[in-house]
Amino acid sequence: MKIDVEYLEFMWPMRHFLITCGDIKEKSNIVAISFCMPLSKEPPLIACAIGREFYSYNLIKNTKEFIINVPQKELKSKIYYCGFHSGYQVDKFKKTGLTPQPARKLKVPIIKECVAHMECTVKQELVTGDKVLLIGEVIEAYADKTLIMEQDMEYAMGDFPKKIYTTRFD
Ligand SMILES: Cc1cc2nc3c(=O)[nH]c(=O)nc-3n(C[C@H](O)[C@H](O)[C@H](O)COP(=O)(O)O)c2cc1C
Repeated sequence: MKIDVEYLEFMWPMRHFLITCGDIKEKSNIVAISFCMPLSKEPPLIACAIGREFYSYNLIKNTKEFIINVPQKELKSKIYYCGFHSGYQVDKFKKTGLTPQPARKLKVPIIKECVAHMECTVKQELVTGDKVLLIGEVIEAYADKTLIMEQDMEYAMGDFPKKIYTTRFD
């Protein structure tokens, strides 16, 4: 017998990322994102689905830039903080203690405590339901030399409340 299920149940595990946006000298923000996938090796393109109402998207649609920061397990509580709070209400750098640092090419800050960073410029946007699919070209990608990819990453296993995948304003 086959039963009805939530389609997302079959998409786990997903890796968690912390996306930064805005301008390091003015207003910047951090958002937790798991709906993220590579699209092309040449040119290097990556897609992220982000809530249309999010503070982050409001910054990204103006600057056309974002950075995908790769957190390790030890940042789990900060990942969740950034995924449960909005930049409309709080300064997530201040609240989490994560450190903004200048990126190589973009005005967007990287997160010092993350182990890898992909600097992206927005090439295309597509509205997909409650999200906007951002197609970014990776113009710089760099990581801690000592990074051991498989050991310490934080994955989503579908064991957290479904409400995080809806916008925070519904
Ligand atoms: C682990 C985790 C992963 C998330 N992944 C996504 C995602 O891929 N896309 C999305 O639109 N929201 C995702 N969210 C929800 C946003 O991070 C959340 O709504 C956030 O508060 C928006 O912040 P902002 O208004 O400052 O941009 C995720 C939340 C968590 C906790």
